[in-house]
Amino acid sequence: MKLAIIGTGYVGLPTGVGFAELGNDVVCVDKIANKIERLNSGELTLFEDGLEDLFRKNVQSGKIRFTLDMQSAVRGADVVMLAVGTPPHPITKEADLQYIYAAAKELAQYLDGYTVVATKSTVPVGTGDEIEKIIREVNHDADFDVVSIPEFLREGFAIHDFFNPDRIVIGTNSERAKEVMLKLYAPFVDKFPLLIVKRRSSETIKYASNAFLAMKIHYINEMADFCEKSGADVLEVAKGMGMDTRIGKKFLNPGPGYGGSCFPKDTNAMAQMGRKYGSPLSLIETTIAKNDERKAKMGQRVIETIKSHPEGKIAVLGLAFKGGTDDCRESPAIDIIKEMVKYSHNVCVFDPKAMENARLILGDSVKYATSIEDACGNADVMVILTEWEDFKHIDLIKIKQKMNRAKIVDLRNMLDADTAVKAGFEYRGVGTNRQ
Ligand code: UGA
Repeated sequence: MKLAIIGTGYVGLPTGVGFAELGNDVVCVDKIANKIERLNSGELTLFEDGLEDLFRKNVQSGKIRFTLDMQSAVRGADVVMLAVGTPPHPITKEADLQYIYAAAKELAQYLDGYTVVATKSTVPVGTGDEIEKIIREVNHDADFDVVSIPEFLREGFAIHDFFNPDRIVIGTNSERAKEVMLKLYAPFVDKFPLLIVKRRSSETIKYASNAFLAMKIHYINEMADFCEKSGADVLEVAKGMGMDTRIGKKFLNPGPGYGGSCFPKDTNAMAQMGRKYGSPLSLIETTIAKNDERKAKMGQRVIETIKSHPEGKIAVLGLAFKGGTDDCRESPAIDIIKEMVKYSHNVCVFDPKAMENARLILGDSVKYATSIEDACGNADVMVILTEWEDFKHIDLIKIKQKMNRAKIVDLRNMLDADTAVKAGFEYRGVGTNRQ
């Protein structure tokens, strides 16, 4: 099938490459000339595990191409997917829909023949109706349907998740659009659950899912605090809870709070929708407030370790909002570092992938190391903020010799507490009471 994908970010690009790999002809549109040039020459513009090989292969075979020209992409397309950002409005925290509405307005002029306009971006309930109205206003004669197909890709696992979805959700009341979407998703149909629902339900499923996962994280984080006070071990508690299939073992890892471009944005937008419809979502409201508080609290936890020697060096390992990505948007690590630099001029940071993105936010407020060893040299405390696999394998005996003081604050429980203590470290994890 012929697909046009508007937006080449963390959603549009993996989605485009995935559909190209399945044999479709994909054209991706973006507004940034330099990005389009790089992508067409086979250079990836973001880091996503497993994407590079598939991307190159499909660029070389011509199954995917990139353009600034909306018209050439949309003309003749069977499906036009909207995968542009819906960032939070700086004041109201509602999803800012200006980019998606602008894209809808622009693409409307070029629709020819029956086209399904499918929204992949995360959009508030009712946005499909608005998009439909906008397209109709611009192009009275257009033959189209607007469908909601929320994406459930996790950053860092986008390619894995694209080819192995837990479910595919299609929101439409139109039989014609349903046929087109079933053709597009035919390679998945007998292998994975596919749910066809009302468009408004589909829009809500995405927010309700992300908010639920954020709540689950908040829950285990509070449980971690409780374990620290009560003498239990949250890792054991999470294991025991997760064995109940009704609860499930995923998303029960305590940490510094959730972050990223999705959970903070989507919980806020969902809470805002609850207020708008006069149906308050109190669990989500609490989750948001407590997650914000947590980052400040975790910053304080680090500062405590150098209070007696304020000039001491803090070595930070991890900047991305989670492991497996270079993305620092709404990263708890960044917020926690901002807390640290209020007290310390000696914060040195390292991340295997996210240095460039972090530098754009943190600027000169911290020093940038070239490796774990470089960051930890003469440090008074090592702080782990992102769950990178590399950090699990740090040679603690070797690294201790390079450090000034042997202290670890492990906000991702990456290290084995007993090994750290045996190596002579004063160790503090999250909710584990092993120190
Ligand atoms: C999330 C959802 O998991 C995807 O299903 C969804 O498609 C995506 O948002 C989106 O809306 O586009 P993502 O933002 O990539 O994916 O990240 P997650 O893996 O869900 O992690 C989010 C945050 O929660 C990270 O900061 C992570 O470290 C934290 N987390 C996750 C925990 O603190 N504990 C856990 O047990 C799990």
